[in-house]
Amino acid sequence: MRIVVTGAAGFLGSHVVDALAEAGHEVLAADAPARALNPAASRRNWAGLADRAARLEIDLAVDDLAPLAAADAVVHLAGRPGVRTSWGAGRAPAERDNVVATRRLLQACAARRPRVIVASSSSVYGSRDLPTREDDPLSPASPYAAGKVEVERLAAVAARDGLPVTVLRYFSVYGPRQRPDMAFHRFIEAALDGRPLPVFGDGRRSRSFTHVADVVDATLRAAAADLPGGTVLNVGRPEPVTVRAAIDLLGELLGGRPAVRGQEPVAGDATRTWADSGRAARLLGWTAGTGLAEGLADQLAWHRGLRVRDRVGAA
Ligand SMILES: NC(=O)c1ccc[n+]([C@@H]2O[C@H](COP(=O)([O-])OP(=O)(O)OC[C@H]3O[C@@H](n4cnc5c(N)ncnc54)[C@H](O)[C@@H]3O)[C@@H](O)[C@H]2O)c1
Repeated sequence: MRIVVTGAAGFLGSHVVDALAEAGHEVLAADAPARALNPAASRRNWAGLADRAARLEIDLAVDDLAPLAAADAVVHLAGRPGVRTSWGAGRAPAERDNVVATRRLLQACAARRPRVIVASSSSVYGSRDLPTREDDPLSPASPYAAGKVEVERLAAVAARDGLPVTVLRYFSVYGPRQRPDMAFHRFIEAALDGRPLPVFGDGRRSRSFTHVADVVDATLRAAAADLPGGTVLNVGRPEPVTVRAAIDLLGELLGGRPAVRGQEPVAGDATRTWADSGRAARLLGWTAGTGLAEGLADQLAWHRGLRVRDRVGAA
């Protein structure tokens, strides 16, 4: 298949491109790395894609998107992620790169109708003390989450208009190349520097942390599946883990519990996310197989490798 991946220079996008290329698909990687929340990370990933896919620098909020619609499937991962950074001055870029970019992409796909996978987020649910199912009421508590609700509405309208769109609600993804603004990335870098781990709030928040390999697996299955237009699927590991418990696991991997430095909790950050992924299991045959200890070891190895490469590069 010929598959377009938007946000290909990002954390999730770069892994999805790797997996699609590995599976023998013809991949067009699309991104505007200067637009990224973490431009240096996206530029690094972008350079790494050169031998895997054709690359197209394109701003989804501005440029002509017709070249992206000429595909069998479009995996739309471009956007401005993050609850914390969507407040204040972050509102406008979040609206632009999430809502406007998605509206323009769906419009560009309306005539040729490739299968489209759209990235949404567990943050659309807000905080809930029970496993969340796709039909549960949405309760966005930040500009980012509200933008993702709008993205889902745009996808639903496009589906009613005949576009085969699937919405994937990703739950806290981690693993190699995790974004520098995300918790495990910040924790591991701090631990390797010998600094206390910067933790927002009291560490009692819990998340359905989901390893990127499982997220890629779900995304590729969705891109290959013939689902009814407008299908929404949770993509998350069902067992929520507290931030404290994750830090304990990290301590075991590092050979000692690291010191922690508490920071003000983030407005709009859910106290708990908890995926019910039964629908993805039924429709895609997917479950998240990677446990947190194994997944954290994988991410830690990536950070260590990055430091070695940076030292060698600097020498
Ligand atoms: N990482 C997670 O845990 C997580 C959880 C839920 C949802 N999501 C969603 O998944 C998607 C990917 O997340 P990520 O963590 O890989 O983020 P990321 O920031 O690493 O990647 C997003 C990429 O989109 C690109 N981009 C942004 N605006 C663009 C524009 N106008 N035109 C072209 N490219 C643009 C950026 O340059 C960046 O490379 C996002 O939509 C995010 O909201 C991620």
